[in-house]
Amino acid sequence: MVVWSRIRKDFPVLNQLYEGKSLIYFDSACMALKPVQVWEAMEYYYKYLGACGGAGRSTHCLGLETSLLTEEARKKMTSFINASDVNEIIWTRNATEGLNIIAATIPLKKEQNIVTTTLEHHSGMLPFLKRSKEVGSELRLVRAKNDGTFDIADFEKQIDDNTKIVSFVHASNLTGTIAPLKEIIEIAHDHDALVVSDEAQYAPHAKLDVKSLDTDFSVLSVHKACGPTGVGVLYGKYDLLEELNMFLVGGDVIEDVIYENGQITAKYLPPPQKFEAGLQNYGGMMGAGAAIDYLQNIGMDNVRQREQVFSKKLLEGILELDKFAVLGPLDYKQRTALVSFRPKSAEINHNDIAEYFNDMLPQHKILMRAGNMCVHPFQYQIGMSPAKGDGIIRASLYIYNTINEIEIFLSALEDFAKIIE
Ligand SMILES: Cc1ncc(COP(=O)(O)O)c(C=O)c1O
Repeated sequence: MVVWSRIRKDFPVLNQLYEGKSLIYFDSACMALKPVQVWEAMEYYYKYLGACGGAGRSTHCLGLETSLLTEEARKKMTSFINASDVNEIIWTRNATEGLNIIAATIPLKKEQNIVTTTLEHHSGMLPFLKRSKEVGSELRLVRAKNDGTFDIADFEKQIDDNTKIVSFVHASNLTGTIAPLKEIIEIAHDHDALVVSDEAQYAPHAKLDVKSLDTDFSVLSVHKACGPTGVGVLYGKYDLLEELNMFLVGGDVIEDVIYENGQITAKYLPPPQKFEAGLQNYGGMMGAGAAIDYLQNIGMDNVRQREQVFSKKLLEGILELDKFAVLGPLDYKQRTALVSFRPKSAEINHNDIAEYFNDMLPQHKILMRAGNMCVHPFQYQIGMSPAKGDGIIRASLYIYNTINEIEIFLSALEDFAKIIE
């Protein structure tokens, strides 16, 4: 059994008064808070090691321990997403970098096409737009349904036997909707297309099993999973990673660079080192390992179950007030614990709401994201114009939140609704 009140104690940021007020943190889809265990793991590195790791680099005791601990973190990540092999896990800076690596290095011909959706985060869309323009291949967009759910029928229309890659978001950072990953992968594989799943908003909140889903590539952002900033993961099936072209080259990706007859020839290392050029973020990887331990100890099924309770309460509470338009489906079971909404009244701006919750409540500061969530195409699709300043407020919850916090939020939102009446 998880004692959730104990979990909260691991996050000192929540146990402080900020400008004399308690903090309610509802911005975890942007960045999750970090438990003490994560920064202790990083502190150990910076305090007691501080050396260079990596195979064949510094082979003294500090270098060896650094390598050992970072490779342990890679093993933890392998088990977290149930990859088949540690060499399928590549450390990146963030999910964006992982998506750029795939888009830039996958062998692609002009006559082939890429299929993605209107609901992608810009990080999942623009690398493929860039590559398709460079190669002259077609980028096809599956139009998400207006409630943010995945449109399988449209997907089946867009995909064909020339589709090289299908890239889509597993859980949306804007609507919280969860895509039917297994079904999408089966359809993609029937056309011999490869699948990239953007797990930035799914893997921190529910069990991801890349092996049983049979996904080809996935990306994660560790900072959204209680880990440090500047660390991400690119997962790929090993044989597919081998087929990708090089991305960054330089130190650490090299087996040898031969100088012969006035020419140099580079021999590159296999994955994962193939994609980990230059000195790595060792402290960050150790922090990532500690974050994975932390989530595994809670259990990802417990995380999902708890978030469903939050999701129901939050969604139903906002809808009941009848003053706010909610993006995404009205069934909480189809979502992660995230609700994006905006006032029905055109006179009230999303920034006014954010300011009210951040500054004007007597005892609390409720921290939420306001504006646009890097999913402009979908916003245009549903009639919003980011260019004209249309935006939303997003409340996104995680393991350290409580039902009581949702109640405080809903009561404050009700007060706000009365003010704007
Ligand atoms: C669904 C989704 N994909 C990708 C990203 C990009 O993540 P990062 O900024 O860590 O690269 C985000 C960030 O919010 C996201 O929500």
